[in-house]
Amino acid sequence: MFEIKHRDGMARIAEFTTPHGVVDTPNIMPVVNPNVKLITPRELQKKFKSEVLITNSYVIYQSQHLKDRALERGLHSLLDFTGAIMTDSGTFQAHVYGELDIEPTEILDFQVNIGSDISTILDMFTEPTDNSSVVKKKVDTTVARAVDAMDRYGDGPSHIALPIQGGIYPDLREECAERLSRLKGSFYPIGGVVPLLENYRFFDLVNVIIASKRGLGPTGPVHLFGAGHPMLYPLAVLLGCDLFDSSSYAKYARRGDMMYPDGTRNIDDIEHLACLCPTCSDLTVEELKDLDTDEKTRKIAEHNLWVSYNEIEKVKQAVREESLWELVERRARAHPYLLKSLKALTSNWKTMEIYQPKGRKKALFYTGKSTLERPMVKRLKVWIRDSYSPTVCGPTIIFNGREDKKPYNRYLTREIKALSPEYSVNLLMQTPLGPIPLEMDEVYPVAQSIFPEDLNDEASLQKYLDRCDITDVIYWDGLETLESLDKVTGISYELMKVYSVCEYQFCRGAGEVLTNGELELVKNRRGRIKNVFLNGKHILSMRHYDGLFSLKEEGAILLHKHLQAPLLRVQVTEDSASYNAEGKNVFNGFVNYAWEHIRPGDEVLIVDPNDSLVAIARAFNSPYEMENYHVGLAARTRTGFSSSQS
Ligand code: GUN
Ligand code: ZN
Repeated sequence: MFEIKHRDGMARIAEFTTPHGVVDTPNIMPVVNPNVKLITPRELQKKFKSEVLITNSYVIYQSQHLKDRALERGLHSLLDFTGAIMTDSGTFQAHVYGELDIEPTEILDFQVNIGSDISTILDMFTEPTDNSSVVKKKVDTTVARAVDAMDRYGDGPSHIALPIQGGIYPDLREECAERLSRLKGSFYPIGGVVPLLENYRFFDLVNVIIASKRGLGPTGPVHLFGAGHPMLYPLAVLLGCDLFDSSSYAKYARRGDMMYPDGTRNIDDIEHLACLCPTCSDLTVEELKDLDTDEKTRKIAEHNLWVSYNEIEKVKQAVREESLWELVERRARAHPYLLKSLKALTSNWKTMEIYQPKGRKKALFYTGKSTLERPMVKRLKVWIRDSYSPTVCGPTIIFNGREDKKPYNRYLTREIKALSPEYSVNLLMQTPLGPIPLEMDEVYPVAQSIFPEDLNDEASLQKYLDRCDITDVIYWDGLETLESLDKVTGISYELMKVYSVCEYQFCRGAGEVLTNGELELVKNRRGRIKNVFLNGKHILSMRHYDGLFSLKEEGAILLHKHLQAPLLRVQVTEDSASYNAEGKNVFNGFVNYAWEHIRPGDEVLIVDPNDSLVAIARAFNSPYEMENYHVGLAARTRTGFSSSQS
């Protein structure tokens, strides 16, 4: 029902199957009011290529005329739309007008009966002002209604939307999401966020989304209820939201507000349209202003929709380029509260890190302090602080990194030659990312990052030295520094490099396994490591774009032999194993278990139920996704081991 095609961290491009066609996500569901069709569903489909829209079943139910027609001819005929239609239940009306005079089962039955593709239960809207005991009760009621709905309609054909409530309490959000996810639903909106959106409480919003996603685990589409401003799409998609409903395009239009990715401007204040959408391209600003009210509203609504769809396209392109984080940081400059919301990403970095690859093809562009708090950066810093151990006994030499010359080892060739392996010293770089062992200098994003200036941070170096109890420190000050050193033979920079990168990339112990013996390095013309041979066997190749290794057959065999299950492994079913051994990809639904520290993009060992090695693959998913999704790619097989080899 929901197949992920591309991903960038928690963001995904996917295909969601409904009774009325496949919906590509991320996507927008324009809100259609059955009584007031500012832009008709047919136009939405023809002109805007809308694949899905949302309407309110409670509004239809309340009107005898609409209700009869819907029951007679079906929802799609009523609205004149052949794509997918989601219906809401009246919860929002309850939020605005108070208690409704309708039974939860009554309105759900109605939605299913009129042929809605995604029917929503009557959830209890949790207000940001509700205290935790009120929220708890509403969560309990929402979950009870969800259980009942899934009992009756869990087998289809309509998807049942089970909204996550929980107010602004992350623990209640997580609990609600967790309880709802146990029902194995196929569509999860995050509800109760409209007041946060209306008041620009983006910091709280981020916390709410992340807590909900944490509780949900890997699931089908997640819909952010009521988020209709394109300004929010990059951030919400980054957090793993897939669908947005938009009534704002029409509501804003009625008061003359034009949406832009960086905010909103009223038509009365606009002298230059500055928009290339089809609607604006056909009009001068004067012509737009001179239209009669209805026509002006219509045109502005069209503009708002074009801009919204266009922003979704930008977000999707960013996911394809794995640069969504950069887009979010740039867009966050649109409003100080959006900027503040990035801080909530930082405090939740561990939840997000699970979905982040260790490297990517695109360099890290610094857009401000928050760049240094991204999970991809944070993971490396925390590893260096907590798990890296200096390779040799001896003093630590500190170099000052230069932004204009990376990787650092290239301008330090002379220094490295003089020091290693003649002296037993550890080499540490001061960099904008904090202190980095020199042998890690080609690993993403150390070499693959662009900073506007030298931002070497003395304070973080000192903190690191203190924390790791490094007291024997020498700041490099030209080759004279050698005179203050004792000559005790150490190990070569290259050996350190293979060892430490393996420890970081694979797991603790991998460095020893993959360097224990006669190590031979093949380098390219520029002196970069290309291939690594151990005792004459090709075990690793270094990827030029992220400084990490791709695992060769002999390397995989060594890791498999020396590191116990479950390390580095994805165990697949017997059936899948024989298939993967032929070099075919690993699919979700055939995974027995996946090691919890696997990240998308990691090199993994595919094993059968007896722990025999059948293939080397690159993970596409996080371990939780591999274990929980039923369809889609889990890992891309690079090499299958025929039975003779394994
Ligand atoms: N529309 C906006 N917010 C909500 C919500 O929390 N639940 C439902 N069902 N509809 C909404
Ligand atoms: Zn426009």
